[in-house]
Amino acid sequence: MTHPSTQAIIVTGASSGIGRHLTIRLAERGHPVYATARKETDMESLSKIENVIPLLVDVRNAEQVKAASEKVSQSGHGLYGLVNNAGVGELGMLSTWTDEEMLNIFNVNVFGPHRMTNAFLQLLTESKGRIVNIGSQGGMLASKYYGPYIMTKHALEAYTAILHDELEPYGVHVSVVQPGGIISDIGGNMMAGTIAHFKRAQPPFKEEADMVLQSFAEESEPNPNEPKSATNRIPSSPEIVWEAVQDALFADKPKMRYLVGTRWEGNRVIHALIAKLLDENDNPKHNYSRDELIELLDQHLAKRMG
Ligand SMILES: NC(=O)c1ccc[n+]([C@@H]2O[C@H](COP(=O)([O-])OP(=O)(O)OC[C@H]3O[C@@H](n4cnc5c(N)ncnc54)[C@H](OP(=O)(O)O)[C@@H]3O)[C@@H](O)[C@H]2O)c1
Repeated sequence: MTHPSTQAIIVTGASSGIGRHLTIRLAERGHPVYATARKETDMESLSKIENVIPLLVDVRNAEQVKAASEKVSQSGHGLYGLVNNAGVGELGMLSTWTDEEMLNIFNVNVFGPHRMTNAFLQLLTESKGRIVNIGSQGGMLASKYYGPYIMTKHALEAYTAILHDELEPYGVHVSVVQPGGIISDIGGNMMAGTIAHFKRAQPPFKEEADMVLQSFAEESEPNPNEPKSATNRIPSSPEIVWEAVQDALFADKPKMRYLVGTRWEGNRVIHALIAKLLDENDNPKHNYSRDELIELLDQHLAKRMG
């Protein structure tokens, strides 16, 4: 078995939340972990974790990405894995987003993974390594107020699927992990921007936006003592993201998609996908009958079971 100390992995956005959790778990497993952050204080805190090498990277900054890839190349240890985790996600009605803000969120959540992938591709093909993109269940859903965030996560889905097909012949496996709500710092980190969006709403959205702002003011923290059930919406631990990332990085046959979260969240995605499928089937020029759809489903299930 390959020893973890020979499999270096880079994780973007390791300063907080999911990225920090993944960094700690990988380091505990014995991997050299290049953990990227944007602030000196975060670099310092990451450097205190055994096996962790902090790198200064804002994924929008091509120079910093290039410098990081040169540093990793020069280390001589190669690179086995890239985890594209860094992401931002302010909320707000689409009409409250400026072009500049739209470009910025795509720059971080979509072009960031692309920039990192390109910069580290040679090392990853040499090691026949793995790329794991942290997407979201939002990559398959569309909910109001989550507009640009969900648009970027849809784009990351397509990016993953295409990259998966392009790199498979060269021995590099690409996956996307699609979490539901996860306990992290994302809500707090994005709150000021989110509030600014709702405050900027113009008619006819003004009244609705005021109600959303009011609900933020009244919102209480989820009760951690409330028993977890299939239906509740209490966010899950980042550990479930780690379990999926671990499989995507180290399983002999990793999956391309890992949907993670509560049962309620998972079911919501399946329902949305079935509704979408039926929308696409709703055209007499190409539609399948009910029996044909069920037959197709059986064929696909049989193919999966091998
Ligand atoms: N939490 C959830 O419920 C949830 C659900 C589905 C998917 N996700 C995804 O999980 C990933 C991690 O989110 P999180 O929940 O852990 O949120 P978080 O605690 O806010 O972490 C986001 C990380 O991304 C970094 N980042 C932001 N902009 C960056 C940039 N331009 N360049 C480099 N790094 C940047 C942040 O660094 P700074 O500290 O420097 O800002 C931070 O380390 C994101 O892709 C998010 O979309 C989260």
